[in-house]
Amino acid sequence: MKRTSRAIVVLLVAMLFVSVLAGCKTVEPEAKKLKIGLSLATLQEERWVRDKDRITADCAAQGIELLTQIANMDAAIQESQCDQMITSGINVLILAAQDSAAAATIVDKAHAAGVYVISYDRLVMNTPNVDVYISFDNVQVGVLQGTWLTKAMPKGNYAILSGAPTDNNAKLFKQGAMSIIQPLVDKGDIKIVAEQAVIEWKPENALKIMENALTANKNNIQGVLAPNDGTAGGCIQALAAQGLAGKVPITGQDAELAAAQRIVKGTQGMTVFKDTRMLGDAAVEAAKTMFGGYKLANANQTVNNNTVDVPSILLVPISVNKDNIDAALIDSGYLKRADVYQ
Ligand code: BGC
Repeated sequence: MKRTSRAIVVLLVAMLFVSVLAGCKTVEPEAKKLKIGLSLATLQEERWVRDKDRITADCAAQGIELLTQIANMDAAIQESQCDQMITSGINVLILAAQDSAAAATIVDKAHAAGVYVISYDRLVMNTPNVDVYISFDNVQVGVLQGTWLTKAMPKGNYAILSGAPTDNNAKLFKQGAMSIIQPLVDKGDIKIVAEQAVIEWKPENALKIMENALTANKNNIQGVLAPNDGTAGGCIQALAAQGLAGKVPITGQDAELAAAQRIVKGTQGMTVFKDTRMLGDAAVEAAKTMFGGYKLANANQTVNNNTVDVPSILLVPISVNKDNIDAALIDSGYLKRADVYQ
């Protein structure tokens, strides 16, 4: 073939190739869409409803698919709900565990299926497979409770209640509170006359513990460490029955509306504000980041879960009493003035 005819053939073949290509639709691989599973142990406390609402709103605003399951404080139900979500193809599991130790199985199964795990508010123990722990500084929560209580009542008989033994947070809260209270016990200023964990964080269990403590001590109790607002509510009911509500300083945690109302009335001394809006936002952001294949630049703390140092994002809790309740809870938009001051 001559040089020119060869060039023509090459040109024709090239034209044919281009026209074939033009005829085809370019098939772009569909961008993978993030699907999150949210597993909450309970909605018993108002705060968990807020966590759920915030994460739901964040996902809706960003076009993220969200599956939500509530385990009604049953670790086995939580595991089967998570199994189902993993099977249905979630990419990230946001897990607030009912049982901090048992939930290691859930985390390991998720990890094996290539699902990222965010240990949400409560740390899952005994597994190397938690991708990130997003919570508040929970030891500091206890420090805030202990600090307020020992200032309000530096001497006397104390009842010390702690949260559910299945919840690792309960240990951290107590550890923080006792770091402040124990030195005063050692000094002989404070005597612990009752000390008990509240099974399942139930207010009615706290009520019974407090009733028994008051009876056993002939009402001679001057301070109460209640680990959260729900349990504080139970204790205050027992104190009220003895005409002691408002006379015995008592702590709380969660900035529940009922607790805020008790603070302005004077029957509860303090609560700890953990802004669930920030926690929910942080979890959804982390889910997006990990799904996108990026490192979590803000997970710059670690908390040990008996197996590894888990990369952690720990937000700052705020101590709230009648002096700063307006600024902390109302001005921040967390609670409404008309609801708090009824
Ligand atoms: C949470 C608290 C909550 C408690 C009971 C803890 O793990 O940190 O905010 O009050 O569980 O649900």
